[in-house]
Amino acid sequence: MTIASASSSSPKELLRPRGPDLRGRTLLDRFRLDALLAFGGMADIYEALDLRLRRRVAIKALHPEHGRAPDQRRRFFQEAVLGAQIDHPHVVPIFDHGEERSLGGEPVLFLVLPLLQGVTLRQRLLEPAMPIADALRLMIQLLDGLAELHKLGAVHRDLKPENCLIVQRQGRDHLILLDLGLAKIHTGPLLSLAPSSAPGAMIGTLAYVSPEQAREQPITPAADVYAVGVILFELLTRRVPFPGTTALEVLSAHASEQAPSVTERAPDRGISDDLEALVARALHKGSSPAPRERRSVPPGTPGHGGAGSRLRRRL
Ligand SMILES: Nc1ncnc2c1ncn2[C@@H]1O[C@H](COP(=O)(O)OP(=O)(O)O)[C@@H](O)[C@H]1O
Ligand SMILES: [Mg+2]
Repeated sequence: MTIASASSSSPKELLRPRGPDLRGRTLLDRFRLDALLAFGGMADIYEALDLRLRRRVAIKALHPEHGRAPDQRRRFFQEAVLGAQIDHPHVVPIFDHGEERSLGGEPVLFLVLPLLQGVTLRQRLLEPAMPIADALRLMIQLLDGLAELHKLGAVHRDLKPENCLIVQRQGRDHLILLDLGLAKIHTGPLLSLAPSSAPGAMIGTLAYVSPEQAREQPITPAADVYAVGVILFELLTRRVPFPGTTALEVLSAHASEQAPSVTERAPDRGISDDLEALVARALHKGSSPAPRERRSVPPGTPGHGGAGSRLRRRL
């Protein structure tokens, strides 16, 4: 299980890559890596120039320890193929996948992505509390992006603020879902790509894992809806529902404890009863995740302007 994927976002000059320092190197005589942008639990992300097409791109270079394991290599290839199928404004697409073997050190497996200028939702959470209507709009965008992924037969499995980038489009916040690295393809034409990890193998980031993941049961798209519930909870109250102090404590809370009430955690936020009920439904647990499935939500208007009811239609 990936307990944390410490994504860094300090100023560029302070950043150090987790893997080999590839700044100044050129991959496959084509991608010149100019600056380190960030890193995650699996990879370093560089700003690069595609010398052939003469455009700036982002390169996601897998940390070499992951590039050695056949299962991880397969997972990285799956990330590439899945991302290459995506054509949606709220999910990052993948342009290409490659492996550079002649840099002298270990081979470098990498993905080529559009270069996005933005901040992660994690960085946004460090700023003063976001107005509720803005938080709801971002969650609508996230759910729209997820629906695209679910249509392809995949579950993201690693939704968290670090994997959501906020860019500006027409002067407004626009969320782009990142990091299909832990996605589980459970059905559809891409099924043959899925790595051989056991169906219930626990994977994800502790604070956002669904009850099904915590119990090592097979997961469905409802697991992602649960994680959206956790993120929305965090946007509203600035804390995740189950912070816990040990991994075991957090997992057992996800598996069986009822989530606290958002209104009790943030009494001054003016959260409507309907929105509170919506968050509770997204965080539903029990023997079946069915109440989290899309379109199972009864009518009602959560308030907070049009965003509330638009969110309800998607959750
Ligand atoms: N296309 C991109 N453009 C700009 N920054 C990106 C891009 N993709 C990822 N990042 C940054 O890199 C971080 C790690 O990327 P991610 O794909 O989540 O890697 P990992 O699989 O290692 O977690 C993200 O949190 C984000 O800050
Ligand atoms: Mg990530």
